Amino acid sequence: MSVRVFMSADAAAASVGADAVARAVSNEAARRGVAIDIVRTGSRGLLWLEPLVEVETAQGRVAYGPVRPGDVASLFDAGFLNGAPHALAHGRVDDLPLFARQRRLTFARVGVCDPLSFNDYLETGGLRGLDRARAMGADAVIEEISASGLRGRGGAGFPAAIKWRTARDAQASRKYVVLNADEGDSGTFADRMVMEGDPFLIIEGIAICAFAIGADRGVIYIRSEYPRAIGVMNEALRIARREKLLSAAFDIEVRVGAGAYVCGEETALLESIEGKRGQVRAKPPLPAVQGLFGKPTIIHNVLTIAAAPTILRDGGAAYASHGMGRSRGSMPFQLAGNVKRGGLYELPFGVTIRELVFDIGGGTASGRPVRAVQVGGPLGAYFPESLFDTPLDYESMAQAGGLLGHGGVVVFDDTVDMAAQARFAFEFCAVESCGKCTPCRIGSTRGVELIDKITAGVEREKNLALADDLLTLMTDASLCALGGLTPMPVGSALKHFPEDFTGRAMRSAAE
Ligand SMILES: Cc1cc2nc3c(=O)[nH]c(=O)nc-3n(C[C@H](O)[C@H](O)[C@H](O)COP(=O)(O)O)c2cc1C
Ligand code: SF4
Repeated sequence: MSVRVFMSADAAAASVGADAVARAVSNEAARRGVAIDIVRTGSRGLLWLEPLVEVETAQGRVAYGPVRPGDVASLFDAGFLNGAPHALAHGRVDDLPLFARQRRLTFARVGVCDPLSFNDYLETGGLRGLDRARAMGADAVIEEISASGLRGRGGAGFPAAIKWRTARDAQASRKYVVLNADEGDSGTFADRMVMEGDPFLIIEGIAICAFAIGADRGVIYIRSEYPRAIGVMNEALRIARREKLLSAAFDIEVRVGAGAYVCGEETALLESIEGKRGQVRAKPPLPAVQGLFGKPTIIHNVLTIAAAPTILRDGGAAYASHGMGRSRGSMPFQLAGNVKRGGLYELPFGVTIRELVFDIGGGTASGRPVRAVQVGGPLGAYFPESLFDTPLDYESMAQAGGLLGHGGVVVFDDTVDMAAQARFAFEFCAVESCGKCTPCRIGSTRGVELIDKITAGVEREKNLALADDLLTLMTDASLCALGGLTPMPVGSALKHFPEDFTGRAMRSAAE
């Protein structure tokens, strides 16, 4: 009987050589006349261990990593196919402390089975949520989503059930479910990992939402930078049609974005799907009332939709039993930047920044002290050490002057120049602005100029006061959150790291 060896085919694993390692394992097994069956999976999220090789043994799956092609012969020599010890061995995956402490509600199947095996999907509880949804009826489905406390994982944290109810109540000849897989936030990769690692979960989630609101079309909008995810999703849709999960009565198509951050904003995304320039629409009307091609449309982030099958299968109360306050369930936190153990960790809301960065992440990769942590993507706040005990949940983050966003957490060591980070935030906004409103289009460029003047020591006090004014204006008067939230990284850098904004002339005089 052949031994099953599991390896991720995820883009992050492939980028550090997983495909070459898989070939090396296959060739070495053939050379030694050993029968093995290599199953390419999604990633477990333990990215610092990739390429990770797991071997199925009587005791469970035993992990080896990070494996290079040159390590493969020695793994065979050591008897890794029986789970034997080796310098790269980590024991059973389920016993790894960083894996055991997670609550993998959405990522339960990712890294476990072949993403494109419909049988594996069914055998691991797939479609039970959709079956239960159909049995209970649309209104009860929305009640279940409401009981789960599910909030949008795309950034705004808006309660999903309210959107679903609004779209359900809207009368129209056609309704849409649109999946936002634009994932533009720096340091985030959870959407890509679910698409590559468990695409049927997404299809099931869209089908549940469509059933609840009465939609007959789904669109998955994926950024062009995710070619593997696009390929996996398209293949999964083909299989779903073959398995009659999709049909002429309800079908889903993939649309590929051309690469603009603002096209992740829900109304710009709709414009883009309609073939127009990605520019933000004024609201109201809300997309749930008048969205894609003017029809009622639910737009959700991948993680929001991917939570629905679990909620419907296990019940809203079970999902809501995790988390804290009004932040229920789990969040797949993505830890990146200058950190030793970067990766994806799905944890209940409420874990603190410190726990995530130090207990889980192991501190900086450079070995230097952590100076700042940016939470929530490029529009999120920079947190100093004094705020590292802030719990990662929607309300606590807001109270501390930040936001949770899509769960991206980026770590910086003490070599970071926070004035340069603030300048970058304005510059990013200037480059990515859709140009529709003045505070964002013009304000971002004036912001770059102001930071340059401040750091050059030109009329420092006057320009600091002007920057403060500009941040207030952009917050209050921008049409969407790109201009409206750029003040968050800039303002937090100014507030918590003022020493980095002293003029260069003043600094060199002091030195
Ligand atoms: C500039 C900008 C970019 C955004 N990018 C994304 C994105 O890449 N993915 C995403 O899901 N939401 C993004 N959003 C949020 C969406 O507008 C919207 O709130 C979200 O897709 C709704 O889904 P949810 O209810 O599941 O959170 C962005 C918002 C703004 C203002
Ligand atoms: S804030 Fe910026 S991105 Fe948003 S609508 Fe205005 S110009 Fe466009």
